[in-house]
Amino acid sequence: MTSMCLYLFFTFLIAVSGEFVWKHHNNEELPLVLEEVHEKCPNITRIYALTETSVNNVPLYVIEFSDTPGFHQPYKPEVKYVGNIHGNEVLGRELLLGLAYNLCEQYIKNDRRIRALIHSTRIHLLPSMNPDGWQLATATGAKDYLIGRTNHHNVDLNRNFPDLDAITFELERQGINHNNHLLRDLTRLAAPLEPETRAVMRWIMSVPFVLSAAMHGGDLVANYPYDESRSGAPASEYSASPDDDTFRELAMAYASAHADMASATRKGCHTTSSDDSVAFNFGKQGGVTNGAAWYSLKGGMQDFNYLATNAFEITLELGCEKYPAASQLLNEWERNKEALLAFMWKVHIGVKGIVSDDSGFIQNAVVSVVNITGPVPRPIRHDVTTGPYGDYYRLLTPGHYEVTASHPGYFPVSRVVTVPHHQTSAHVLNFRLEPTSSWFDSSSFGVYPHGLRDGQPRIYKRSLFQHVARAVLQRRD
Ligand SMILES: *[C@@H]1O[C@H](CO)[C@@H](O)[C@H](O)[C@H]1NC(C)=O
Ligand SMILES: *[C@@H]1O[C@H](CO)[C@@H](O)[C@H](O)[C@H]1NC(C)=O
Ligand SMILES: [Zn+2]
Repeated sequence: MTSMCLYLFFTFLIAVSGEFVWKHHNNEELPLVLEEVHEKCPNITRIYALTETSVNNVPLYVIEFSDTPGFHQPYKPEVKYVGNIHGNEVLGRELLLGLAYNLCEQYIKNDRRIRALIHSTRIHLLPSMNPDGWQLATATGAKDYLIGRTNHHNVDLNRNFPDLDAITFELERQGINHNNHLLRDLTRLAAPLEPETRAVMRWIMSVPFVLSAAMHGGDLVANYPYDESRSGAPASEYSASPDDDTFRELAMAYASAHADMASATRKGCHTTSSDDSVAFNFGKQGGVTNGAAWYSLKGGMQDFNYLATNAFEITLELGCEKYPAASQLLNEWERNKEALLAFMWKVHIGVKGIVSDDSGFIQNAVVSVVNITGPVPRPIRHDVTTGPYGDYYRLLTPGHYEVTASHPGYFPVSRVVTVPHHQTSAHVLNFRLEPTSSWFDSSSFGVYPHGLRDGQPRIYKRSLFQHVARAVLQRRD
């Protein structure tokens, strides 16, 4: 063979052997990598695209890992990673492709930890939420701090989600404890939804996610809710969510398993001198930050997840450079791989269970929690709701809790539980509810799991939920 033939032969071998190459995969190569992983691990993977494409018609591909791909199972929590929401912040995109490849490899090699994870968890990876931005950033040399950040309509996707923080803050001010699934209370959109945003909203409203992380670049920190300040202050105002302790633990799980996100001795990303007292150096605070304590933003995906669904999402800033050179990617994988796994295991903290009655599962039951660890019981004012199998997942840090399951038409049931350290499976706590009366038709109340509790008035009396939800969430055929 001539040397050219040899070269082609080996190129061919590499292509079919499906070895993963650390480089920047373009929008055509991205689905091919996922396809190779699926061919190698057909029993535990599934590839699908979100309901809408990007503005430039690039499909938004997801690869799912599970021992029952395509199906939700009760007691099996769902977790997702979303990369490349800002098109010029590209490390997450490559890390997720590498993660997909490695999960499959380690599964085949019988790695016990990976097999246990995949058998107990449903994992969804969306490597790129903004392929159009990636294309522009890449075509323009990947040099600019802003070019390619937005989608093809010049819209920042991480400002394009409905601002549910404004609703929850208003409810707080009025002392109304209606604290979850707030998309129903939305009366207007500040801006039209971009197709990428709408696709992701439909996704997160239709899959019962429990835990999530969105990947960015430009700093090195794990950022947790809320991203929006209560007063409107643009920066430096800690904006705690009801699950502040849990979110801190989730963020620290990533930061402390990362090579140096949590290192107190590393330099801050934006510090020019050794005196970094003026700029944020997140290593000195454990590699984590509350979003609004850094800077406030409206319309972010993170807070939307928490306030519209049962999912807890944090935001990962994966490095000082938004578009690292291809030669750095393998090293970045080494620096992040433990953290990527450690964070996914966190979907198994707290309690989970099934709410049922004599005849079967109760969907949309409300599960509320009071923290009874300290001397004064403290309600955590963020309830989760049960899914189609009556199943719920309540992430909690170690401690003692009183957990109550309720649904209109049933007597509520409370149980006390201790959440231990180092869980690899949530504590199982099931509830069997008794109807308040046999003739009571609970189904007529099923639509609003929270709205009629305690006879509390709803703040937005003329909720446009039906209109908005129809416009937002149904397919435009
Ligand atoms: C997939 O499942 C089939 C049937 O259970 C089994 O024979 C096969 O070895 C599995 N393949 C892999 C790659 O695990
Ligand atoms: C419950 O309270 C204890 C003690 O104050 C605290 O350590 C723990 O993080 C709290 N749990 C949550 C989920 O807030
Ligand atoms: Zn970003």
